[in-house]
Amino acid sequence: MNRLAAALTTACLLAASGCALQEPGHRSAEASPTPAMSAPATSVSPTASLPVSTPSQTPTAAASPSAPAKDTRTGRELDQPYQVDSVIVVSKAHPVSARYGPPKPTSPYGLDLAANQALKKMTAAAKKDGVKIVVRSGYRSYATQKQVYNNALRNYPSVASAKRYNAPPGASEHQTGLGVDLWDGVTWSLPMANTATGKWLHKHCHEYGFVLRYPKGKEKLTGYAYEPWHFRYVGTAVAAKFGKGNTLTLEEVLGLA
Ligand code: DAL
Ligand code: ZN
Repeated sequence: MNRLAAALTTACLLAASGCALQEPGHRSAEASPTPAMSAPATSVSPTASLPVSTPSQTPTAAASPSAPAKDTRTGRELDQPYQVDSVIVVSKAHPVSARYGPPKPTSPYGLDLAANQALKKMTAAAKKDGVKIVVRSGYRSYATQKQVYNNALRNYPSVASAKRYNAPPGASEHQTGLGVDLWDGVTWSLPMANTATGKWLHKHCHEYGFVLRYPKGKEKLTGYAYEPWHFRYVGTAVAAKFGKGNTLTLEEVLGLA
């Protein structure tokens, strides 16, 4: 086993054992986000294959691509996330404090109420099509994200590769209860995109108000490498603005790019 595979295996064993990465108070079927269990099936460089590792309010207004207000939050203002047209944005450029969490958390994944309801509908629709959707990681507190991040820094082959797939505490959508990692319960990492679950989600997620948050080739805009498993709930009105093909980012749709 090479060094990369060994690091990933170790990280996954940690996650599967419900270790420190498990969010206290959130029972779950949800495995913690950790580095990928398998290398990408494509020619992507090995360090690009490590994954692993969501916020909230229901967006009510349509997103506008024109000049959003600058993010001027400081101090206690950081207890609330930056928003553009009522759409929450949590990212490296727009962090939130440790005090923020979903205003209406739900069980068992800690997802925000609207996101959880949409997820249930989406999961039921997929099931009708013979496709299984499993939650790998839902809400993660600031403290949990810190553990996930530090774990990634220790186990990824390089600090740079860890940062491509893992948000520092305060910069993860998982803290808002609006971001969720989905898979089929079997195939993780980049190959997840080619599973029946990955394909179904990429085709239908918009119908339920979710978007693929970190699409291919948009790392400069989002701050993260392609993550075929990370979906963000934005509501169906905003999701409709993304169109088909999972190529647009929240940054572009909201005029932040
Ligand atoms: N994997 C995403 C970027 C997160 O850690 O929130
Ligand atoms: Zn995620």
